[in-house]
Amino acid sequence: MKIAVVNGTMRSGSTRYITQMFLDELGGDVTEFWLPRDFSKPCLGCFSCFENGEETCPHADDVEKILCALDEADLVILQSPVYVLGMSGQLKCFLDHTGFRFMVHRPNPEMYRKTGLVVSTAGGAGTRAANKAMKACLTGICIPRVYRYGVNVFAMDWEQVAERKKRKIKRQVRALSRRVQRRVRSGKVGSFSQKLMFYLMRSVQKKNDYLPKDREYWIGQGWLGKERPWKS
Ligand SMILES: Cc1cc2nc3c(=O)[nH]c(=O)nc-3n(C[C@H](O)[C@H](O)[C@H](O)COP(=O)(O)O)c2cc1C
Repeated sequence: MKIAVVNGTMRSGSTRYITQMFLDELGGDVTEFWLPRDFSKPCLGCFSCFENGEETCPHADDVEKILCALDEADLVILQSPVYVLGMSGQLKCFLDHTGFRFMVHRPNPEMYRKTGLVVSTAGGAGTRAANKAMKACLTGICIPRVYRYGVNVFAMDWEQVAERKKRKIKRQVRALSRRVQRRVRSGKVGSFSQKLMFYLMRSVQKKNDYLPKDREYWIGQGWLGKERPWKS
């Protein structure tokens, strides 16, 4: 199994520790990115990716490196500590650069074959919101099944986490890893809700006269004809 991990923190804290537990349980060939070391630039909101193509983004080289690894992976993992009730700013900065890949624009059909996992920890509150937002980004770029793991560690780093809590986390990680493995091995492609969304977006693209790049892409993929992303 090929795994791509985007670490939304440079810290080897609780979130990273739990992510490593997942990697140890899952096994496989892992490619990792650490933010902000490997990506630190906020989106400038220039719309160039949408209007002129992703290669015209001022941060295209850095974005491409990470997206290429995601394209090659079977499993994509995002991890972030909760900062002020959400994901870390550096992770959000990177994910803002993936908007052109959303289904309404130019989704990569390879994503229909992948599985996602999002991991977060908080002192006491916010993992639900952080995981929901991270999951929405992976769903947005067309990963059909995204698992979530969030835990309130009541600590500032892993050493401070209570032993009883650590044991519980270990059990939960092991159980969820089995589910993730089963999903990856099942080779399932796409989901029912994605198909519905595809047909909705297809009707949008048929009338699209405002973003020609997107329309050309859909025509090129054959999606306005008989081709479908889950069959390619
Ligand atoms: C800037 C900042 C903001 C934080 N905001 C929250 C928060 O909104 N809710 C919460 O429960 N914990 C918050 N925390 C605590 C961390 O989420 C928590 O300690 C987390 O487990 C740290 O993960 P790490 O060890 O992987 O760095 C915050 C910590 C920092 C540094």
